[in-house]
Amino acid sequence: MPEWTWEYEGYDPAVERLRESLCTLGNGCFATRGAFPECRAGLVHCPGTYRAGCYNRLESTVAGRRVVNEDMVNLPNWLPLRFRVRSRGGTWGPWLTPDSAALLDHRQVLDLRRGLLVRTSRYRDRTAGVLGVEQIRLVHMADPHLAALRTVLTAENWSGDVEVESALDGDVTNINVHRYRALDRHHLAGVRTGAREPGTTWLSCRTSTSGIGIALAARTVVTGPPPSSSQLRPGRRHAAHRLVIPVVAGRPLEVEKTVALHTSRDAAIGDPLGAAVDRVTEAPDFATLLDSHTAAWRRMWRRADISIPGRAGRILRLHLFHVLQTLSPHTADLDVGVPARGLHGEAYRGHVFWDELFVLPYLNLHFPDVSRALLTYRHRRLDRACRSAAAIGRAGAMYPWQSGSDGREETQELHLNPRSGRWLPDNSRLQHHVGSAVAYNVWQYGEATGDTGFLYTRGAEMLVQIARFWMASAVFDPARGRYRIRGVVGPDEYHDAYPGAGRPGLDDNAYTNVTAAWVIARALDLLRRLPARHRQELFERVRLDGEELPKWEEVSRRMYVPFHQGVVSQFEGYGDLAELDWDAYRARYDSIRRLDRILEAEGDTVNRYKASKQADVLMLGYLFPPTELRSLFRRLGHHLDDEMWNRTVDYYLRRTSHGSTLSGVVHGWVLARVRRAEAWQYVHEALEADIADIQGGTTGEGIHLGAMAGTLDLVQRGLTGLAPRGDALSLDPVPLPALSEYGFTLSHRGHWGIGLRLHTGRLELAVPDSEESPLRVVLADRAVTVTPGETCVLQLPAN
Ligand code: BGC
Repeated sequence: MPEWTWEYEGYDPAVERLRESLCTLGNGCFATRGAFPECRAGLVHCPGTYRAGCYNRLESTVAGRRVVNEDMVNLPNWLPLRFRVRSRGGTWGPWLTPDSAALLDHRQVLDLRRGLLVRTSRYRDRTAGVLGVEQIRLVHMADPHLAALRTVLTAENWSGDVEVESALDGDVTNINVHRYRALDRHHLAGVRTGAREPGTTWLSCRTSTSGIGIALAARTVVTGPPPSSSQLRPGRRHAAHRLVIPVVAGRPLEVEKTVALHTSRDAAIGDPLGAAVDRVTEAPDFATLLDSHTAAWRRMWRRADISIPGRAGRILRLHLFHVLQTLSPHTADLDVGVPARGLHGEAYRGHVFWDELFVLPYLNLHFPDVSRALLTYRHRRLDRACRSAAAIGRAGAMYPWQSGSDGREETQELHLNPRSGRWLPDNSRLQHHVGSAVAYNVWQYGEATGDTGFLYTRGAEMLVQIARFWMASAVFDPARGRYRIRGVVGPDEYHDAYPGAGRPGLDDNAYTNVTAAWVIARALDLLRRLPARHRQELFERVRLDGEELPKWEEVSRRMYVPFHQGVVSQFEGYGDLAELDWDAYRARYDSIRRLDRILEAEGDTVNRYKASKQADVLMLGYLFPPTELRSLFRRLGHHLDDEMWNRTVDYYLRRTSHGSTLSGVVHGWVLARVRRAEAWQYVHEALEADIADIQGGTTGEGIHLGAMAGTLDLVQRGLTGLAPRGDALSLDPVPLPALSEYGFTLSHRGHWGIGLRLHTGRLELAVPDSEESPLRVVLADRAVTVTPGETCVLQLPAN
């Protein structure tokens, strides 16, 4: 398969949902799944269009309890375009769909370079003959409110008529996730439709409780033979445009459908309907739209490309494509966070988790404006996070585990175990470590960009309020002479309580405690660094008293870290849990990734065992390079040498089921630095996670954005050891034999498009010509300065 395309041969209903997710097209503002335009939603097809940040809250009753969930809304479907044929003098055949015997062949190609979904199919109508279909789809990357579909229909061996129905469908619900079927999924209200001659239909509605106005307008134009009839048919929840066009054997006819989508959240519009109708009326033809769209993609690829030979390189480019379709420069104008499953499906209801930890460090070096906007989403919800902390009697900011429209905790109260059919309490909201992820991203963004305008104001406010929350959470234990954080859940979501305990939560999750200490220490650093004016303003704004700070210093040095058997304990008491018979479970079940569900269905609980869903303690090795991690432990009064860290890695490696796609990324990253041979297995798993749907069905509900961005960052920072520090770039490359050749571009502090390439043990850095000062590059054994316009080649020590 060529480097820039993903090709799918044939049609297989069993994997259609997966394809729809992987063939989603988006522009950072909205995205549309790669569904067939001629098919309706049902068990096989799941068309979906999602606008970033468009949420709606609904109440349902499950297991006798009233629950409220906020979901990213599936908007009216703009895709519908179906066709049927009749031979001259004959009668109309059925509407053609791939789910009938009429489909002769089908092929679809996702073109990453140009951001297109291209499909070629042939249908045989029983009485008329064969109809060829060539279709190109785009979601416009330059104008974030436009999408277009060009369909070329060719009667191969007959003449007669083709009827085309191009529609906007408001009869849409959130049906992408089967597990949520017991919940209310009707988010659209007040659907109205209309038409404007000669060829425009429109549909408007609003979300039922959040009241977001949504409007779509579609213009359908036929080129080639003029239609013998053209009817605009606005209906109750569906606005159609029907055209009958005479066709002659072998002579293609072209149908162009151009669609504008606006919501009341858009800037610089009056009302969404007026804006959508205007926009579609003024939109140029398909060829012109295609030009401006591909030019926008060209600009994006210039800022972020990655080139790696072989399959790994192809997958990484696909990952980059989906990251950019979810978070593009258009995202910088919106008030949105990082949706865990992209804008590609409805899993996790479009919510924002700690997954941004795997995304922002990548974006910082390509699209810093987008990172800043994503951090601003968190800042706008800082007040809410402070209120959430206050509600449990603590100071500072408690960011929610799942965030949506207004920053309140959106984690569901009950979740369904599909294996047992039972609805169970969901305690994942106790993952307060999400606050450390926000703080880490603030810090990383500051280091990468030097954007003090943000760091000294909104960044500092968040960092200080998160540090404060950790201060309020840490309780002194006189017996240990240490500060402890109790009642939390760590990144490993399996363990949410001690076996037999009456209340949820665990004590002293090592990842939580160590990152909390780090956050407090960074907040102190920043406070020391702040220019007097900013410092005073910040102190006033957040009502911070300088007298508190010595205590901060103390807590950041005396946070408790549990150990057992010479390894860091995942949490206090982890060492006392039972060992699981991993071999027996592997033998008994096809996949044990969701061991929690398996055990619950067996009437047992994973809380009893030393068994983790994903990297937890090892996350520390993901966030902090080895020297930083060592000094962090030293600051806490612990000696963490290579031997202990390697032992810790070994210990958890044997006890992790990798039930999250994030786990492969973290294990690959960490192992690359401690035990190279096994690293590839995990990197490989992270690369294959979505394209092979390794979790058995989850990708059809949306891509795993954190894992996709994580694999890109694994090359960008993991393998290179790249760390932007002040005005210098630090590098500490680590060889991974299966990924020994790579190249990518990055930007750092005014140097745009730096080329970094590793090839046969040589590292090349090309700094584009500019007026900027030379770039300082620091390696473990040397430092060099590269003048703009020059390329520096460094021979790396053999390993
Ligand atoms: C993982 C979390 C992650 C969430 C959303 C879960 O399966 O355990 O770490 O934040 O998915 O991607």
